[in-house]
Amino acid sequence: MRYRQHGPSLVVQAPAKLNLFLEVLGKRSDGYHELETVMVSIGLHDTLRLQPDASGGISLRCTLAGEPAEGRRRPVERLSTGDDNLICRAARALQEATGCRQGACIDLTKRIPMEAGLGGGSSDAAATLVALNRLWRLNLPSDELHRIAAGLGSDLNFFIDSPSLAVCRGRGEQIEPVPMGRPLHLVVVRPREGLSTGAVFRNWEGTATPQSSDRLLDALRSGDLGTVGATLHNALQAPAEQLSEQVRKTLRAIDGTESVAAAMSGSGTACFAICRNGASARRIGARLRAQGLGRVFVVRTGL
Ligand code: C5P
Repeated sequence: MRYRQHGPSLVVQAPAKLNLFLEVLGKRSDGYHELETVMVSIGLHDTLRLQPDASGGISLRCTLAGEPAEGRRRPVERLSTGDDNLICRAARALQEATGCRQGACIDLTKRIPMEAGLGGGSSDAAATLVALNRLWRLNLPSDELHRIAAGLGSDLNFFIDSPSLAVCRGRGEQIEPVPMGRPLHLVVVRPREGLSTGAVFRNWEGTATPQSSDRLLDALRSGDLGTVGATLHNALQAPAEQLSEQVRKTLRAIDGTESVAAAMSGSGTACFAICRNGASARRIGARLRAQGLGRVFVVRTGL
């Protein structure tokens, strides 16, 4: 996450993530699933502009990047800007935790596709917590921000510090940053339809032999691209493929390119290609774009 002060406003870039590895270890008594997942932040981001509001109210406006008029948003991407939006819930949770009476006007420019497994909503909410902590001069320590973040969703904690690479456990909220040998060049494809995270988890049928992320993490530390490609894993891929044939179609299309390897991110439907270098990523991106599979992003790890 990057931010800069603009007069009274803070402008924050909230990155997307990809899951290079996701194992579901079992179902918990609270209804969530126990996970081991390896996440990277990537250079695709939403932008939030936050301005203090003395009235104490929280208001949100959302514009899709590249859309000139608000009325021309595509319905598939329509996003609630009411109190149920995770950004508003994050701001309220911070007010409640601190007794702060200040409010905020928040402008969100959305680039990260939704229902994609890219963590956009969680990243926006985590950015809101970090930015308002600063804007409202609350000086909450990081562990307190993490506690509030964990109460709002499973993916927010990763975005509080947005490390380039981390292994995440528990519901996904326990974050262990890991040093990365070299950045990865990637192409991300979001097919035309999305999937709800809850629906994909409900479609997971269990595993007899859970895999470990150790080999992948070693390969990421040493920059061994071949082993990175060989150790990608996502236990939610099969349940997502059952719900959306576009996931399988997208992965097949990526397999037909010069990519090193491909997988789905999180609960889908976005899939990604690991590429040998930047030039190869641009070629793969152009080829996949020409196939009209959905939205295509050529990115690197880190924001
Ligand atoms: O935590 P979050 O609100 O992002 O999760 C959305 C849904 O995904 C949950 O309601 C739950 O159904 C499912 N989920 C899960 N186990 C996790 C994370 C999410 O079952 N570790």
